[in-house]
Amino acid sequence: MNPKIKYLSLTIAISAILISSTRDLITSTAPKPQLPYSLKYIADVVLLLPSSIISSPLISFPFSRHHRKKRPDKGTTTSICDDFHPQFPSVDPNTTTILCVDPNGCCNFTTVQAAIDAIPTTSAAAAPTQNRTVIWINSGLYYEKVVIPKTKPSITLQGQGYLTTAIAWNNTANSSGGTFYSGSLQVFSDNFIAKNISFMNVAPIPKPGDVGAQAVAIRISGDQAAFWGCGFFGAQDTLHDDKGRHYFKDCYIQGSIDFIFGNAKSLYEDCELISMAKPVATGSRSIDGSVTAHGRALKEEDTGFAFVNCKIGGTGRVWLGRAWRPFSRVVFALTTMSDIIAPEGWNDFNDATRDQTIYYGEYKCSGAGADMSMRASYVQRLNDTEASNFLNVSFISGNQWLQPFNN
Ligand SMILES: *[C@@H]1O[C@H](CO)[C@@H](O)[C@H](O)[C@H]1NC(C)=O
Ligand SMILES: *[C@@H]1O[C@H](CO)[C@@H](O)[C@H](O)[C@H]1NC(C)=O
Ligand SMILES: *[C@@H]1O[C@H](CO)[C@@H](O)[C@H](O)[C@H]1NC(C)=O
Ligand SMILES: *[C@@H]1O[C@H](CO)[C@@H](O)[C@H](O)[C@H]1NC(C)=O
Ligand SMILES: *[C@@H]1O[C@H](CO)[C@@H](O)[C@H](O)[C@H]1NC(C)=O
Ligand SMILES: *[C@@H]1O[C@H](CO)[C@@H](O)[C@H](O)[C@H]1NC(C)=O
Ligand SMILES: *[C@@H]1O[C@H](CO)[C@@H](O)[C@H](O)[C@H]1NC(C)=O
Ligand SMILES: *[C@@H]1O[C@H](CO)[C@@H](O)[C@H](O)[C@H]1NC(C)=O
Repeated sequence: MNPKIKYLSLTIAISAILISSTRDLITSTAPKPQLPYSLKYIADVVLLLPSSIISSPLISFPFSRHHRKKRPDKGTTTSICDDFHPQFPSVDPNTTTILCVDPNGCCNFTTVQAAIDAIPTTSAAAAPTQNRTVIWINSGLYYEKVVIPKTKPSITLQGQGYLTTAIAWNNTANSSGGTFYSGSLQVFSDNFIAKNISFMNVAPIPKPGDVGAQAVAIRISGDQAAFWGCGFFGAQDTLHDDKGRHYFKDCYIQGSIDFIFGNAKSLYEDCELISMAKPVATGSRSIDGSVTAHGRALKEEDTGFAFVNCKIGGTGRVWLGRAWRPFSRVVFALTTMSDIIAPEGWNDFNDATRDQTIYYGEYKCSGAGADMSMRASYVQRLNDTEASNFLNVSFISGNQWLQPFNN
């Protein structure tokens, strides 16, 4: 697509989001603004554009004032909240609190962080009996950085679909004091759940050789977290799967370099892993990304990433994983891989001593990228017995803590 058209589409999309988040419009005859493009599209576009475009002039685009002048109030004031009828999940009110976030001010809070701030802190002793707080988040793009501290366990973020509800920010390693602090959402508490929502980092895509441009969409550092039908959008270092046991189901994860990284123990089921690395010229052997960078440093650490029934696609030529730390452990099972996967499949971080300690396995994968004939020597073709440890929620002891989606 012509860059100018992309710019225009983005302007329209962002403007619509901004209009819908302007409190000026709470009482007006203007129809409720609709998002003209899916967030997946917006994310793809945003990531292809230079930083200047996500800069203040656009953010303060004075559309709402313009609208008000053109549409004087004729006395028949209707509220933008008239058609706001949130469908809260049915919960036991004795053990679950529901808070509501809507960008137009139609319920408790207009930002996700304000809802988090309103939750009382829990002492470590009370944490095991901590009741759940469900934060119901209406469709829209929440342009804010959100932090959930260790003292606020058992929070659920419930969006309206990963293409219509998103939290986005644009910190980079440079602008936030390091990659680990750049996440648009940072979760330090246990028992976190996210459903039907996206997390995006819309900082500019790093150019080759850029330093400090890593931009995390989410950092998940608490134990026993679950993500259902969520989107993760970024380029380098999108999903910081830092530590703890985590479950990802039906998620869409986009990135380029090391886009799922960290030292957690996680099961990814039925997810789409989409590389947005630059297309590589035909005949070129260059590699410009990696799906994972698991960071297990010691043999004693019980961590690893397992991908089951996933799909890998997108652009560029990428590795399935590279060994960020010596005992990096990653398994892909029953996963379809397009030809973006480099024939050698994996990388030892250019440190041959790691070949003895990394655990990289593949099991019954399919597609052009799953051809194992040229794989690096240390890659294992797992047999049924070996693979069985990685194929279901037992890998993350999910039987002890993972609740069904509808709970
Ligand atoms: C993030 O966006 C703001 C405008 O909202 C801009 O001023 C800033 O430079 C951007 N930061 C980065 C790292 O791109
Ligand atoms: C909530 O607590 C009240 C008072 O203890 C009790 O009567 C009610 O049955 C409880 N509700 C549920 C759904 O358990
Ligand atoms: C949140 O809003 C609902 C109505 O939408 C109301 O019943 C509830 O009391 C509010 N909660 C808080 C904590 O303000
Ligand atoms: C959770 O709710 C139950 C039932 O209302 C209550 O007995 C318990 O004290 C609550 N836990 C905390 C940590 O507040
Ligand atoms: C990050 O900061 C370093 C040191 O100030 C600078 O050299 C580099 O260009 C910056 N990177 C980006 C992407 O702005
Ligand atoms: C929410 O996520 C679940 C689990 O992936 C999915 O089945 C459901 O269709 C999603 N709902 C919406 C509204 O996107
Ligand atoms: C699977 O491989 C292990 C070695 O890692 C071997 O001991 C075992 O016999 C194999 N199982 C089958 C069913 O081939
Ligand atoms: C998960 O896999 C293990 C190992 O194959 C098996 O023993 C267990 O029954 C399976 N659990 C579930 C919930 O399917």
